Amino acid sequence: MKKKSGGTEVMHALEEAGGARSGVARAVSGQTGVPEATLYGVSTFYTLLAKPDVELRICQGTSCALAGAFEHIAEARANGVKVEAVSCLGQCDRAPAALDARLEPVIWGGEGHVLPADPELPIDLGGADTAEWSALEKAKRIGAEAVIDEIRAAGLQGRGGAGFPAHIKWSGVRSQAETERYVVVNADEGEPGTFKDREVMLRRPHRMLEGLAIAAWAVGAKVAWIYIRGEFQACRRALERALAEAKPDLEVRFYDGHGAYICGEETALLESLEGKRGMPRLKPPFPTEAGLFGKPTLIHNVETLACVPAIVERGGDWFRGLGRTEAGSKLYCISGHVEKPGVYELPIGVTLEELVQHAGGYVGTPKAFSPGGASSGFLPMAFRDTPLDFKSLQAAGSMLGSAGVVVLNDSVDMAEAARWGQVFFEDETCGQCAPCRIGCSLQRQSIDRYLADRDAEHLAHVGVVHGEMDEGSICGLGMTASLPLLSAMKHFPGDFV
Ligand SMILES: Cc1cc2nc3c(=O)[nH]c(=O)nc-3n(C[C@H](O)[C@H](O)[C@H](O)COP(=O)(O)O)c2cc1C
Ligand code: SF4
Repeated sequence: MKKKSGGTEVMHALEEAGGARSGVARAVSGQTGVPEATLYGVSTFYTLLAKPDVELRICQGTSCALAGAFEHIAEARANGVKVEAVSCLGQCDRAPAALDARLEPVIWGGEGHVLPADPELPIDLGGADTAEWSALEKAKRIGAEAVIDEIRAAGLQGRGGAGFPAHIKWSGVRSQAETERYVVVNADEGEPGTFKDREVMLRRPHRMLEGLAIAAWAVGAKVAWIYIRGEFQACRRALERALAEAKPDLEVRFYDGHGAYICGEETALLESLEGKRGMPRLKPPFPTEAGLFGKPTLIHNVETLACVPAIVERGGDWFRGLGRTEAGSKLYCISGHVEKPGVYELPIGVTLEELVQHAGGYVGTPKAFSPGGASSGFLPMAFRDTPLDFKSLQAAGSMLGSAGVVVLNDSVDMAEAARWGQVFFEDETCGQCAPCRIGCSLQRQSIDRYLADRDAEHLAHVGVVHGEMDEGSICGLGMTASLPLLSAMKHFPGDFV
């Protein structure tokens, strides 16, 4: 029997054999030599493997809930369709979002919007995408150190959520003694409210791939992995077409995620790429030292890499100067109660009011917004003029995260909206840390009990539970998972009486 070392081939074998169906783990164990219990653990961890027979997946995230997702779910069930209510499909601009059995989008809510073509924008979603790749040529002319200097001068912060300075990671990988190095693209976009990476890959695949090629060349990596949401099949096709056109001198491998939000966390993503359950690692060591298969690894979000070609072409100072309160432009996603949900590339630091103007105005009277996906909680409209940037939102007790802005109008009961967030985190905790695993469940139970009889006593302990989760969690999910409920209680006391 041929033994395999684990890794991506294990996931493919599980997929081909039918996911978490009875007998699959035993059969794949026989083929691969991986213990049956490990394979069972892997196949039940990932939604797309654990539930292979689903005919229709309907998103129950905030924007989809506002757009009638629960009614669609009830109707499909009544019609005998095998329907699954899922956490997020990365399509809040098309709410209510749904995928068919082949994981192709079912469009009920129309397509999202982007700005018209503008060559002054670094990513320019409306622009023409070509295989020219002149920035890579320039990078090779000026040399890796000069490229990293431009990234530093640009002030480019990671666009995946944490906002970490990109140049520090590039220098970190480049300076390792180990010469086998990897670059990994985090294309697992799964934060409710966020769908910008999807648009970059669909509309500007060359931008991202050229950025990836520049990064790999600068840090000395010969192999790059693109870890892409399994639900983003159209994006994968666009990237494959662009690669075939550009034929880069870089080995690019794809890996389809299997429906676990936590795999967006970079070390969970690495575990998943290695064929395991996607559970975040303790840090240090950081991926720049010991990442994929223990080798130095540069991990970046799609948008971060898509900024790189323009920075190399036009210089770091130019990019920095595009921002208002911090460096550069930013892809803001906006959905919920606005006229034209979509992805808008604007100076970092614009306010909600300005963003909503681009999005055609509010639908109804605005009451609340969530500036950075579920993890950022809710803010009242008193913050409508706060710059949407990393520092200002942190000072407001929220976060920019991946800039997935969701607007809620005054028809929404914030206790109900808080519940949608808590359901999300209860579904998506990886379960590794007891405070997060138990706490996510307790917070959801507390809000459910409150909604049942509106007795505030049920919410008396949510602050204490949050404290335990914040202290005892390995990753950001557990630290922020209580924010939908806590922020709703803090800013909208009128909905909790
Ligand atoms: C729970 C959780 C989920 C995350 N999901 C994503 C994601 O979907 N996409 C992403 O790029 N980064 C995500 N991140 C951030 C990554 O861990 C990491 O910071 C990022 O991929 C680094 O790339 P950047 O420096 O270009 O932002 C997530 C982090 C946490 C804690
Ligand atoms: S905090 Fe939660 S999601 Fe993160 S590692 Fe711990 S259990 Fe998993």
